[in-house]
Amino acid sequence: MKRGRILAVAVVLILLGAGGFWWLAVGGSGGGAGGARGLSMFNMMRDFGRPSYTSLGQEIFLTGQDPQGRIGYDVPGMSGSGMMGGPGGMMHLSCAGCHGADGSGGLTFGNGVVSANLRQLIRGQSPPYDFSLFARAVTRGIDNQGLKLRRPMPHWTMPAGDLRALWTYVKTLQQ
Ligand code: HEC
Repeated sequence: MKRGRILAVAVVLILLGAGGFWWLAVGGSGGGAGGARGLSMFNMMRDFGRPSYTSLGQEIFLTGQDPQGRIGYDVPGMSGSGMMGGPGGMMHLSCAGCHGADGSGGLTFGNGVVSANLRQLIRGQSPPYDFSLFARAVTRGIDNQGLKLRRPMPHWTMPAGDLRALWTYVKTLQQ
């Protein structure tokens, strides 16, 4: 457990580091793109580069955030994660960060838990995920069979419309 926590923190630090590197690589803060906005990795990433997304759901999946910055999360048992992950927090985890941009998962964490394959939520599962089961997994960390999803799957808070858009997008990844 302890080791798991340390590794989970290490993952967060690596993600922070990667974000910082990206930020430096695109020219650092300040000036041009919008002035002082607070030191939020999300805002920096939003201001520089401004990638375009095919849908709101894709944006949420890839960035863990919506354009209004309304999405937050908490990793149960990881103190401080809520503070970092809240809207406007220092950094943001994304679905893609743990489940892969294509949703195929397979990342093993320090506690031995592997990120799930989100491309098999319907065909590969019994009962198949539908919107309400997906919403329960994402917001409360309970899977389609009623079992608790383990760390580091976060518990997310987001507006209902965002959750819908996310499910619509995740459905397009199904095999
Ligand atoms: C920090 C890593 C991490 C992030 C970020 C993350 N997940 Fe997960 N997720 C996991 C892990 C690990 C599991 C498997 C947990 C287990 O097996 O107990 C999981 C499981 C799931 C499951 C259950 C799948 C199944 O087979 O029952 C769903 C659905 C899911 N994640 C969706 C999402 C979505 C959508 C997002 C973005 C809003 C997201 N996850 C972000 C790590 C993450």
